[in-house]
Amino acid sequence: MPKVNLAYIGCGGIAGAHFNGLKELHEKGYRDFTIVACCDLVQSRAEAMATRFEEVLGTKPAVYKDYREMLAKETAIDAVTIYTTHENHHQIAMDAMSAGKQVSTEKPLGLTLRAGRLMMDHAKKTDKLLHVAENYRMAPAERAVSWAIKSGRIGTPRLLNWMDIGERKWYWQWRDHKEIASGGWTIDGGVHFSDLWQLHISDIKRVTAVSKTYDPIKYISYKSVEEFEEAKNSELPRYRPTRSLKSIDPNNLQEPVESNLEDTTSAILEFSNGVLGTWVVSRSAPGRVDRSCVLYGSEGALSWNEGILPREGQSGGLSWKEMIDTYLNSLKADEKEQLFPLGITATMAIEDKQFIDAILGRGAFEVDAWTGYKAMAIPMAVYESAAVGGPVEVQDVLDLKVETYQRELNKLIGI
Ligand SMILES: NC(=O)c1ccc[n+]([C@@H]2O[C@H](COP(=O)([O-])OP(=O)(O)OC[C@H]3O[C@@H](n4cnc5c(N)ncnc54)[C@H](O)[C@@H]3O)[C@@H](O)[C@H]2O)c1
Repeated sequence: MPKVNLAYIGCGGIAGAHFNGLKELHEKGYRDFTIVACCDLVQSRAEAMATRFEEVLGTKPAVYKDYREMLAKETAIDAVTIYTTHENHHQIAMDAMSAGKQVSTEKPLGLTLRAGRLMMDHAKKTDKLLHVAENYRMAPAERAVSWAIKSGRIGTPRLLNWMDIGERKWYWQWRDHKEIASGGWTIDGGVHFSDLWQLHISDIKRVTAVSKTYDPIKYISYKSVEEFEEAKNSELPRYRPTRSLKSIDPNNLQEPVESNLEDTTSAILEFSNGVLGTWVVSRSAPGRVDRSCVLYGSEGALSWNEGILPREGQSGGLSWKEMIDTYLNSLKADEKEQLFPLGITATMAIEDKQFIDAILGRGAFEVDAWTGYKAMAIPMAVYESAAVGGPVEVQDVLDLKVETYQRELNKLIGI
């Protein structure tokens, strides 16, 4: 059985989660892959990841700082997985495809939709696979939500109410910078939610939104002046791209950093099947967290975390856990094996296996580039609508006819 030779590009937080996925696959007997190289701008991260793989797989992947050098030297690589920050997904993917490699990239597909289009066009031109690591939909709970809606448990869906409201004062490194992250939580988390909505409900045809920045200053907290000095001189890009202070007041070990992102958006989503959605995201709302997410139908509601809630006085309710168990029990053995291979429910293991299997010619993966592109288009439509000050048609956003928000980002990455 041939093995797929993988190389990791980006060895930070999410790369560690994918490592856990591959480890679980390996431990459960899935051995159709090996890791030949790990690359990160921060050499110590690539080195640490290579050591972790050595402990599991028995051979140590080569370590690189520069992915282009890695692509040139490691000719045995079949596929790369891109776990870097958003601004370079497109360039790395296109370079890898030009070098003959299959590509899996973490969400979002690219910094902008134009970047995503370039990636998709290049995949077509080079005849390479382009997979998007979009994992939320693979969780048993989300599979159960799809099943519950599609089997009519709440009747015909009508109204989506998605509140994602709270406060974050702490600085989240690159995620607080538009030129690296594309936008705030509306895209970072929103790309997952938008994928779920389009999977569970339908495509979205129109978006009307407003965006605000209430609190642009975020804070890094230190336990001591020494910790500040250590962080300042560290190889890890803790501050990238800004290093706002040269020293810190020992009486107030908080370093303020300015974020150039929106922290609040409020959107109306008009789904193609008639469902009306309200989506509010804020990380500048102190005092009360609101994470209520409910889809109402003609016969009842589905609440994320509460389960299926029938009309008052009627039967058919299921708690969140009962809903998941009922769904899992309804699956035939072959369906279960396809959705949760080897009994695995960890979403990153599932998506990584789908990618490797597709390279080995064992069928298609679930989230292709177009699905990832569409997931990204809804948060982008929120930003575009806020930028133009009125409703935007999602088709126009998909077709790159509206790029008022994204123009500046495209310029920054030279596309
Ligand atoms: N699916 C999920 O649930 C989920 C969760 C978190 C992050 N993500 C995604 O994963 C990606 C990475 O996020 P993270 O949380 O791991 O960030 P991170 O900052 O922890 O790691 C990113 C790593 O990429 C490296 N890097 C950046 N540019 C590089 C380049 N040109 N060459 C080599 N290395 C480079 C950085 O040095 C860093 O180590 C993002 O696309 C993010 O949206 C997905």
